[in-house]
Amino acid sequence: MQLDELYREVIMDHYMHPRNQGQIEGDALSIDLKNPTCGDEITLQLHVEDGVVQDVRFKGAGCSISMASASMMTEAVRGKSVEEAMKISDEFRKLMKGEEANEELLDDLEALSGVCRFPARIKCATLAWNALDKTVKNSEKGE
Ligand code: FES
Repeated sequence: MQLDELYREVIMDHYMHPRNQGQIEGDALSIDLKNPTCGDEITLQLHVEDGVVQDVRFKGAGCSISMASASMMTEAVRGKSVEEAMKISDEFRKLMKGEEANEELLDDLEALSGVCRFPARIKCATLAWNALDKTVKNSEKGE
């Protein structure tokens, strides 16, 4: 199987069977974020305890890239410390710029590496990650 084909399968699998979709019952940090270019929206919720992302859920509608990226992001950061989650987010942004990124940290997220060749889709792939970063920043500011 070609790498491109494998990557396409990973993306479609997350799009068709999104992980961690839904809502957290109870205490959670929450944000609604829109992709300004298409109007698609995501709601992200994080439950952080002792500096660790104990639970993370998302809701929203969008293209396959945005939904797959959201699903993969939740899998990547669940159970990680907030610090580690932010490190993964930084590496993902490098991947989207076509820069060399830490493959070990990114793991399955490498499947989205091809997106950097389509600038219009980068906003789709980073929507959930922007929501993650904003949620963490807001919580640090106590909002
Ligand atoms: Fe709207 Fe991709 S087209 S998020």
